[in-house]
Amino acid sequence: MTINLYVTDHHGLVAEALVARVRDAILTKPDAVIGLATGRTPMLAYQLLGQEARAGLDLTRARFVMLDEYLGLDPSSPDSYANVLRENFIRPLGLDDEQMLTLRTDAADVVAEAAEYEQSLNALGGVDLQILGVGRNGHIGFNEPGSPFDSCTRRVRLADMTRLDNAPTLVYETAVPEHAITQGIATILRARRIAVVATGASKATAIARCLTGEVSSDLPISALHRHPQCELIIDRAASNDPDFSGPIMRRTSAHAPVSARG
Ligand code: GLP
Repeated sequence: MTINLYVTDHHGLVAEALVARVRDAILTKPDAVIGLATGRTPMLAYQLLGQEARAGLDLTRARFVMLDEYLGLDPSSPDSYANVLRENFIRPLGLDDEQMLTLRTDAADVVAEAAEYEQSLNALGGVDLQILGVGRNGHIGFNEPGSPFDSCTRRVRLADMTRLDNAPTLVYETAVPEHAITQGIATILRARRIAVVATGASKATAIARCLTGEVSSDLPISALHRHPQCELIIDRAASNDPDFSGPIMRRTSAHAPVSARG
């Protein structure tokens, strides 16, 4: 398998490209199921989608599902990913909270919550387009390095680097939770299409390893080489590519060697 690579000059063009993928998904299938990532990278695209919605893009029949969520926060915390997505996506787009399938921050039985989430995704008919970001350590969702490629939705411990990187995003909590619940890598790979966005030099190492290194559970994003319809949308800084000729370059990545691991 290969990952389709789309390199643009800057974050704004990454956001526009992501908006185009969401628009296509909705125009093709008005009741599409879209998987929403959190993190800073997709937020501009979510703002632009608000403009599209106000200009007539009808998202009222679409369904949205969460990728991951912190564990241990009060459900009312503005830092829960469900609330971040309500504030930055659902409400500005004029959508109904009921359109988004959420993961609970306060599940008493996380194993049961995870199993129920998998069932709910199946009941929706699966995800048509999953939006992903990537961590500096190559995580997708909250699947940290070492996550098995056959993992499903489950409780995970966050890597120190992830907690460090996410600390500045908090608006209310004083510390990033130690644990989270995340769609597993196998769950993510079941989506029919995947669009990954990455911007900035801090992501360049993970991106370069993904495009040129081995497919290994040491680098969770490398699992996406096993998906038939995955696109990596990045800016110049994240590409670290001396051949980049801007403003937009499209190419298909070289096959990464498949390792036995993962
Ligand atoms: C968090 C999320 C990931 C996201 C990552 C990147 O860890 N759980 O899903 O991809 O952040 O975040 P950012 O876009 O802020 O760099």
